[in-house]
Amino acid sequence: MAKKSTSTSSKSKSTSKKEEEGITDEELEEALEESLEDDGMESEQNAEKTEEDAEEEGNKVTTKKKSSSNKKKDTEEGDELDIDMGLKESDIKLVDVSSFSVKDIPGVGPSIAKKLIDSGFSNIRAIATLPPKILQEESGIGEKTAQKITQAAQEICKIDFTTADVIFERRKKLGKIVTGSNSLNELLGGGIEAGAVTELFGEFRTGKTQIAHQLCVNVQLPEDQGGLAGKAMYVDTEGTFRPERIAQMAMARGMNVKDALKNVIYARAYNSEHQINIMKQSRKILESENIKLIIIDSIIGHFRSEFYGLGSLAPRQQLLNVHLHQIVQLAETYLIAAVVTNQVQSKPDVFFGDPTRAAGGNILAHGSTYRIYLRKSKADTRVAKMIDAPGLPESEAAFRITEKGIEDV
Ligand SMILES: Nc1ncnc2c1ncn2[C@@H]1O[C@H](COP(=O)(O)OP(=O)(O)OP(=O)(O)O)[C@@H](O)[C@H]1O
Ligand SMILES: [Mg+2]
Repeated sequence: MAKKSTSTSSKSKSTSKKEEEGITDEELEEALEESLEDDGMESEQNAEKTEEDAEEEGNKVTTKKKSSSNKKKDTEEGDELDIDMGLKESDIKLVDVSSFSVKDIPGVGPSIAKKLIDSGFSNIRAIATLPPKILQEESGIGEKTAQKITQAAQEICKIDFTTADVIFERRKKLGKIVTGSNSLNELLGGGIEAGAVTELFGEFRTGKTQIAHQLCVNVQLPEDQGGLAGKAMYVDTEGTFRPERIAQMAMARGMNVKDALKNVIYARAYNSEHQINIMKQSRKILESENIKLIIIDSIIGHFRSEFYGLGSLAPRQQLLNVHLHQIVQLAETYLIAAVVTNQVQSKPDVFFGDPTRAAGGNILAHGSTYRIYLRKSKADTRVAKMIDAPGLPESEAAFRITEKGIEDV
């Protein structure tokens, strides 16, 4: 029930309070987000509304927007793009930094090494991809030292230019986690991608938390069954994680329930700062456990409830940006799938179609690699719509939430 205080009910409560002042929270958020950032997302969604209306009137819409036909073609061709680039395994592989210790970084003595390891930076790639300022803040080392260490780590990891054929081959090797529904997998280009951030947004009861639970189970499956043979980390900001549900879903797949539960590492985040701290702490666990999936359910709840009013939108967006960068960096460094759930913000000025849009403004819109909008349909059916994905068409997929988990209709 805690979730409702951060989403729906708190929204209506604050709305009525603001209504007395003649302005709603949504209007405040919208006004500042528009002035803070150039807003491509909203106009995009508005364009989609008319198509959704058409669908509701019985005209089946399969692909969206004028650019989607090109995107569709790309993917169709993509299916035939199984070209062998003639590269050797050693050409494709990232520099193997697992044999390096932070002590191997030039300039790192025993005391700095201890500070780095104690604060969760034992992986050289993590150091190489972080801004020195963050390394400095999180490990307590000096500014100049942080800059030198980051640069040296970048040299070791050879983070510089690469040709597209190498990236092509690397991308082919990226793992995916199946969702339980074939049509949803198809929408996602196979499943939830490792090394990227996938955002699920939608109104309450649209299935965000259920998909998150299902992924915690499916990530444990062997690769030939659509998993990544790894563990999940679940950051719960709304108090809606249910191990019983994990057990139910694992049982439905014939998995050992006890093992399935042990393979989900759980943290409850009580406020936005705590949420950010948990992400900092997570590095140590990511290094020592075979984590292949991070869930943050929801990414925005605390931020929305703690920062309200026009004056706090800028700091809220700034902090959210820091948080999202943490997640992107973890996903890319450890090649794990990151799934964040997001709430919707009502748009009182929209009279036709779905009067909602994702909360979090452009910070979230730009930070997530894949954005999926979920909405309710008849009974246990839900519809997922790909809103933004590099290289995938904007289409829709229907799935069901049943006792067994996420399934095809
Ligand atoms: N054991 C179950 N068997 C069948 N359906 C279930 C079961 N548990 C949950 N559901 C379905 O899942 C829905 C809730 O979905 P979920 O919790 O994922 O919503 P959400 O999008 O996360 O919402 P919120 O924004 O409130 O967090 C319920 O309405 C119910 O239909
Ligand atoms: Mg939920």
